[in-house]
Amino acid sequence: MRILVIGGGGREHALAWKIKQSPKCTELFLAPGNPGTATLGRNVPIKATDIEGLLAFALAEKIDLTVVGPELPLVAGIVDAFQAKGLRCFGPSKNASKLEGSKVEMKEFLRRHNIPTAQFKLFNKAEEAHAHIDEIDGPCVVKCDGLAAGKGVTVAKNAAEAHDAVVRMMEKFEFGREAGSHVVIEEVLKGEEISVFALCDGRNAVLLDYVQDHKQIRDGDEGPMTGGMGTFSPVPGLMKLRDEDELVRRIVYPTIAGLMKERRPYVGILFIGLMLTDTGPKVLEYNVRFGDPECQSLMLRLKTDLVTVIEACLNGTLDKTELEWLPDTAVCVTMASGGYPGEVVNGLPIAGLDRATHLGAVVFHAGTAEKDGKLVTAGGRVLSVCARAGNLDAARTVAYAACDAIHFDGKQYRSDIGKRREARKA
Ligand code: AMP
Ligand code: GLY
Repeated sequence: MRILVIGGGGREHALAWKIKQSPKCTELFLAPGNPGTATLGRNVPIKATDIEGLLAFALAEKIDLTVVGPELPLVAGIVDAFQAKGLRCFGPSKNASKLEGSKVEMKEFLRRHNIPTAQFKLFNKAEEAHAHIDEIDGPCVVKCDGLAAGKGVTVAKNAAEAHDAVVRMMEKFEFGREAGSHVVIEEVLKGEEISVFALCDGRNAVLLDYVQDHKQIRDGDEGPMTGGMGTFSPVPGLMKLRDEDELVRRIVYPTIAGLMKERRPYVGILFIGLMLTDTGPKVLEYNVRFGDPECQSLMLRLKTDLVTVIEACLNGTLDKTELEWLPDTAVCVTMASGGYPGEVVNGLPIAGLDRATHLGAVVFHAGTAEKDGKLVTAGGRVLSVCARAGNLDAARTVAYAACDAIHFDGKQYRSDIGKRREARKA
């Protein structure tokens, strides 16, 4: 099969790495890819958001299967556009992707189908949002509508912070006019936050193994939120059996059934952000794609052929498909540029990748570029340094030795990936 992977981050490098191992993959293309993916297939300089360009390429190159990494093309309707031309494209339709594209739609969907989530109210006028915050007069969460690259959410400790968020979202339009036209204000949920991923074929869903992200920039979950500073999988002891049962019965199945009933069946990877509260798991958010860097740790552990699994989703035969996982633990440490998640300097030389690989790590590229034949930094999250071993400590040892071996000016990474909960208990 001729396979095209859309996107150019660490997640897409990991997907391409896994797809390349499939005996079904004869040729691999990446649009736009990155210097890491260039070692696996042919990078094509078409942006992930250029749906017309991607479609023309897929038709001309007779692509048999397209796998979409990021949310932007999905929310813009890439799957519908490809299907209209008879091309197989893995991901949810434009209508199903609204679960991530609009927080307002998402919350209304949850309410319609009685799926556990934080209590909330919707506002389209700033004055009313401010009045509601005065009424609560305590902690709350303010979320703007639309995609805001994970930055459109403020967990406010008090009314002043919540008012400030409303001003930034609805009055200064810091996340754009559209995203700021509606906000969701909801209760703060307490508990352990986890990401759950389900493969879906429209009617059936299969949960992937558990994986946990570390979202804040610094050790001990300090500092600002990021796209994700590291993951590990599996996460033993995270879910109690009762939670797991509720997750499937009250969240995963109602979501799939709800979308089917609304005539927008979900095919693709569904990412459910959950809070494990005292009263059971509750949905924080849906995303319509793999997590980055959750995908990296999961791909290292997935034993089953990814292409076969994707075909089962597209054929509606997921009920006949078993996923097999290596019993090992995988760890992924994000190496980020100095200053991330704020302003960063690009173009700094990266050294030591060979040595990291030699140590046994698998290094996926995220924000890298090639300049004059040399590898340089090109973004906030630069590399996903991953390792797999018989247990968490052994995997961490390899991943962190590799991080030590890699150098670029200002490099930063968390040193507690996989150890956060232990550290908190101590
Ligand atoms: P979201 O994009 O809705 O997942 O929000 C981003 C992050 O904000 C989540 O990953 C949580 O860490 C936090 N968050 C969102 N909603 C809530 C909530 N209701 N209670 C506590 N934390 C939340
Ligand atoms: N790592 C979180 C995300 O991909 O949204």
